[in-house]
Parts: sequence; structure tokens; C-alpha cells
Amino acid sequence: MSVHKKKVKRVTTHVIQSLKDQGEKISMLTAYDYSMAKIVDAAKVDIILVGDSASNVMAGHETTLPITLDQMIYHATSVVRAVKYSLVVVDLPFGSYQGNSKKALASTIRIMKESGGHAIKVEGGREVKDSIQRILKAGVPVMGHLGLTPQSIYKFGTYTVRAKEEVEAERLKEDAKLLEKIGCFAIILEKIPADLAKEVTDSVSIPVIGIGAGPHVDGQVLVLHDMLGITKDFKPRFLRRYLNLFDDIKDAVCHYIEDVKKEEFPNKEEQY
Ligand code: KIV
Repeated sequence: MSVHKKKVKRVTTHVIQSLKDQGEKISMLTAYDYSMAKIVDAAKVDIILVGDSASNVMAGHETTLPITLDQMIYHATSVVRAVKYSLVVVDLPFGSYQGNSKKALASTIRIMKESGGHAIKVEGGREVKDSIQRILKAGVPVMGHLGLTPQSIYKFGTYTVRAKEEVEAERLKEDAKLLEKIGCFAIILEKIPADLAKEVTDSVSIPVIGIGAGPHVDGQVLVLHDMLGITKDFKPRFLRRYLNLFDDIKDAVCHYIEDVKKEEFPNKEEQY
């Protein structure tokens, strides 16, 4: 049992900061719907991310770009309805905040009012500074996201490790300091070298949460469907699968089909 679970009724951004300050690692997972969010919240994960990875996982798109603000609000609303304990962070989707801070604030206000989420996440550093500052001024906590930022996939061209070269690593370190300075409550670092992630984590006072960023960060995040083995073809090196639910669910469905075909379901006890 972790230190904070004994005394925390509900996770807030202040609790997240206190975890870093006390040296306790932060746990974070995605959820996009009521049923999964209920399970993850019951397990007392610190942060639930309503990620725009819903675009891939729930809708089957190749990238995160197509998901809309309305769709993110639908997912976030379903998650918030289930959650009693965890902090719920909602991704601002592609096109809802870049290059226009007024639009960024309007998108954020819709998420906060309509879904009841507790904070938002945006991808990028200096290029989205104005949007982040306007959102923060309205009193909404912001989580940053640096390294591999999937909304910029067509700029990068691939999903390979980011910031391996000096110039990009320096820029990332500067961006992390900038996000801290303007008031973000935490930063996600995605798919960057572990040594660089450590350097960034040691250089800022706010929590740094990694995905494919090694062990020397303040916490870890994974996509729930990946760690449960529901998605089968996505196999990055950083992913640990805790279950193989694709095969388990398929086996159960095959069993059900067999029972129906053989007229073994329903039996006497399963009818009125
Ligand atoms: O959308 C998402 O799931 C994310 C995580 C991979 C951090 O941004």
C-alpha cells in the first residue's frame, strides 16, 4: 500500500505534486468509457487519462488526428461518471488548441463544463505556450506532453524514439523548463532516451510521467488496452502486457458461439 492511498480521498493536482515531493511514483492509465474507468478507479490509479489515443483504440483510426472535440467530450463524460478517486485528465484533440489561444480556452471550457474532467493535456512546448497560458489563467490545470507527440506524426514521419540528437534534446530540456515556469502541473515525456528523461526529471520541480522514457521519471503511463493485451499488433519495446485479453475474450466468444450452436445455452437454470 502506497503512502498516500491511506489518507487521500480523491486525487488532486496537489496530491500529484506531493507524490513527487515524497518520492512516491505516480501511476497513470488511459480510459475512454464508463466500465473500464470504473475498474481502473477501483484499483486506485493516481491519474486516469482520457487520451486522444481513443482515436486509435476505440475508433480504429491510424493516427490521433481525426478525433473531434465532441468525441473527446463524450469519452471524458463517460469516464468522469465512473470515477470517485482518480484525477481525470482529458486530452485536447488536434485542431482544438494549436495556433489560437482563444480557441484553446474555448475548447478547454467545453471539456471542463460538459465532461466534468479535472485537468487538460496538450502536446508541445514553446509553440503552444500562448494557449497554455490562457488556459492556466482561467484556472484550469494543464499537463504538458513532450518527446513523441503523436498529433505531430506527419511532421516527424515515424513513431521512433525522439530527441536522440543533441539539438532536439536541448530543445526538449528548454521546453520542459518553460512548461514548469508558465505553471503546468506535470509533464508527460513520451519515447525518449532514459538518460535524457532523468535529466529533465531532475531539472524540474513538477512531476514528470514517462511512457517509453525509462525508470528515472516520477511516474509511468500506459494505454490501458495495450497493457491488458486487448490491442494485439502494437508491440513497442516499452510496453509490458499484464494480460492477454484479446485471446481470452476471443476464446470466451468462441465458447459462447459453440454453446449456442449446440443448443447448450441457455440451460434449465438460465430460463424463466
Ligand atoms: O493519448 C494518449 O493515450 C496519450 C498517452 C500515450 C500519454 O497521450
